[in-house]
Amino acid sequence: MHLAVFLLASTLSAITFALDNGEMRTPPMGWLAWERFRCDIDCKNDPKNCISENLFIDMADRLAEDGWRELGYTYVNIDDCWASMERDENGRLQADPKRFPGGIPRLSRYMHDRGLKLGIYGDMGTHTCGGYPGTPLDKIEVDAQTFADWEVDMLKFDGCYSNASEQEKGYPLMSKALNATGRPIGYSCSWPAYQGGLPPKVNYTQLGEICNLWRNYGDIQDSWGSVLSIADWFFENQDILIPAAGPGRWNDPDMLVVGDFGLSMDQSRSQMALWAIMAAPLFMSNDLRTISSGARNILQNKMIISINQDPMGIQGRRIVKEKSHIEVFWRSLSNGASALVFFSRRTDMPYRYQTSLSKLNYTTGSYKIYDVYTDQTTMLKDTTNFVVSVNPTGVVMWYVSAPAKLHERHFYKSGNLMESVHRGDENTIPRVFL
Ligand code: GLA
Repeated sequence: MHLAVFLLASTLSAITFALDNGEMRTPPMGWLAWERFRCDIDCKNDPKNCISENLFIDMADRLAEDGWRELGYTYVNIDDCWASMERDENGRLQADPKRFPGGIPRLSRYMHDRGLKLGIYGDMGTHTCGGYPGTPLDKIEVDAQTFADWEVDMLKFDGCYSNASEQEKGYPLMSKALNATGRPIGYSCSWPAYQGGLPPKVNYTQLGEICNLWRNYGDIQDSWGSVLSIADWFFENQDILIPAAGPGRWNDPDMLVVGDFGLSMDQSRSQMALWAIMAAPLFMSNDLRTISSGARNILQNKMIISINQDPMGIQGRRIVKEKSHIEVFWRSLSNGASALVFFSRRTDMPYRYQTSLSKLNYTTGSYKIYDVYTDQTTMLKDTTNFVVSVNPTGVVMWYVSAPAKLHERHFYKSGNLMESVHRGDENTIPRVFL
């Protein structure tokens, strides 16, 4: 009797527990081929840029040798167009033999030898979006096992060429199949991007239970318009998306295009800042062999990375939308700290935005402010009005430390500070008012 109750209880809890593969407790970081290199398979005429093992080896070398890996950028992720058009004689996927002569196992070994990880791409459906072999329902288990045998560390599971009911079965089934291999494999689901709209269609609770991250929305392109429309969608829907995110389960607004052709330096700073506020996975899709030092400095900004990687994993939100086309974003961080981003949608000139921390709903106190892009530090009282100058399509981003304790009572003796007593004011996290 007791055993039956116990078994029932443990079955129920197994059903409702979050995906517990221990992966991606902070948003994953690395490099992903798609946005920059697409489905270029012309290795004859474009050997440096075609989807081949050489491209991933080149990027791995750059991650390992140019300081990226130490900052957390450890995934090297293959996207579409890696596979041979035919499965092998055992019905297993295989890499295109010309472009990947060592197969996927050689690449995963290459990554692991350098302290990096390898990600691969599959598709819940008959074909990938680029027309390569997909993973229909009856191939899910064999493909999961193949990826595990190849020692892959992450799977992006796209959703072209399948219908809603197949997806409803396939995405949870792949989660189970990956877990059943015993190899920890981070699981990125494109499912919600194919469901369209927001709940009741998308069940974010279920997604958090079966996936480590998920693409909620359309593909990013190398343009400011694309970055802005994605950011707008995520912040317009923040009340639904924020509760879905947390350690091990992340909303994915898609790749960073910083270092490509479409964004100015200000816009690059904006993408990096907003992706950090969103606790977004940081997958760069750029050419690390030729990236400019300006773009590199933005992507390698330690403070922004640490904001993105904050262990509490609480996704941030937009808290102010001004008529002047200035917006303010806020994210709560560990140790009573927080991040603020002042963003300008304007297209005229730097805008001098005036506000105060108390207007941004910070509690009473004196705060240490660190400007993450200029490296300047200042102290600011909650009631002090300040001005930030925000460039068109640009940002100012602050790391705000927990407030210095208030109500200090100082005891002086012969002019010297002898002792100070701190009281109260533990509630340092600002309330959100929008
Ligand atoms: C879809 C995905 C992209 C990329 C392509 C590959 O469009 O959303 O990120 O993987 O397929 O064909």
